[in-house]
Amino acid sequence: MIENQYGIPAIGFGTYDRKGEAGIEAMLVALDTGYRHLDTAQDYGTEGEVGQAVRRSRIPRENVFVTTKIATGNLGPGKLIPSLKRSLDNLQLDRLDLTLIHWPSPNDEVPLTVYMEQMAEAHALGLTRLVGVSNFTIALLQAAQQVLGPIPIANNQFELNPLLQNKKLATYCTNSGISVTCYLPIARGLLGKVPAMIEIADRHGATPEQVALAFELAKGYIAIPTSGKPDRIRSNFEATKLALTEDDMAAIETVDRGQRVIDPVWGPAWD
Ligand SMILES: NC(=O)c1ccc[n+]([C@@H]2O[C@H](COP(=O)([O-])OP(=O)(O)OC[C@H]3O[C@@H](n4cnc5c(N)ncnc54)[C@H](OP(=O)(O)O)[C@@H]3O)[C@@H](O)[C@H]2O)c1
Repeated sequence: MIENQYGIPAIGFGTYDRKGEAGIEAMLVALDTGYRHLDTAQDYGTEGEVGQAVRRSRIPRENVFVTTKIATGNLGPGKLIPSLKRSLDNLQLDRLDLTLIHWPSPNDEVPLTVYMEQMAEAHALGLTRLVGVSNFTIALLQAAQQVLGPIPIANNQFELNPLLQNKKLATYCTNSGISVTCYLPIARGLLGKVPAMIEIADRHGATPEQVALAFELAKGYIAIPTSGKPDRIRSNFEATKLALTEDDMAAIETVDRGQRVIDPVWGPAWD
C-alpha cells in the first residue's frame, strides 16, 4: 500500500451515506479488499459503523488509518475537544489518526484562531496523531498554519477529480508539505459520460473511475471513493494497479472544467 510522508494510505474508503448494517458490510468489503483507510465525519453519523467495521475485520487497529472531521457546530470555544472525545467513544478508539476541521466557520462566525488553537490542544493531548483541514483555501491554510506553529497541517481534503482539478490549491498544498485528499474523486459516477475518459479507460481495459483514481494517485494525492456495491468497491481499489502513460496524464489534464458539485452558499471564497 502506497503511503505519503505522514503515513496516510493513498487510497481510502469514504463513508458518507454508509450507515447501519449495510454501511458496516460495505466497509468490511473494503477492508477485505485491501483498503486500510476509512474517512468519516461527526456529521456523517457513520463513526459508530467505522468502529464496528474495524473491530469486526480483526485487522489490528494500528493497520487501519481512521480520519474524522469536526462539525461546524463544534468549533466554538470549549466545544471541539469534548466533541472529539465523543467521536472517539463512537469509534471506540483511543486516538484518531487524522482529525480535520470539516469546513471553515461560515462567515467567520467562530474566529479561525479559536478552533485551530483547540486543534493544537487536541494534538497535544494525544487525541489525534495528525491534524488537518477540509475545504480550506490558500489564505485559510496560511492563517491556520500561523496558529498551529510547529504542528504541520498534514492534510487538506477538498473536491478534486478530472472535472475539477483545483490545480492552484493542490499545487500550493503539495509545495507546502500539506498532503491532498480528493473528495468526490470519481465525480459521483459522472466520468462515464466524458469521451476522453472513456477512450483512455477502453485502451487500458479499465473503467473511467479507475482512470480518475489512477490519475489522482499518480499526482501524489490521496483518494477516498465510496460505493455501497461490492463489485465497485473492489474495482475502484484495482486503480492502485493501473499505470497511466504521460500522454494519458496530459489528456486527463484537458478534461478539467472547473465543475464543482459541493458548493454551499456559506462556503469559502474558493481559489
Ligand atoms: N470533506 C468534505 O466536505 C467531503 C464532501 C463530500 C465527500 N467527502 C468524503 O468523500 C467521500 C467520497 O465522496 P462522494 O461519496 O461524495 O463521491 P464519489 O466517491 O466520487 O462517488 C460516490 C458515488 O459514485 C458511485 N460509484 C462508486 N463507484 C463507482 C463506479 N466504479 N462506477 C460508477 N459509479 C460509482 C456510488 O454509487 P453506488 O453506491 O451506487 O456505487 C456513489 O453514489 C465521501 O464518502 C466522504 O467520505 C468529504
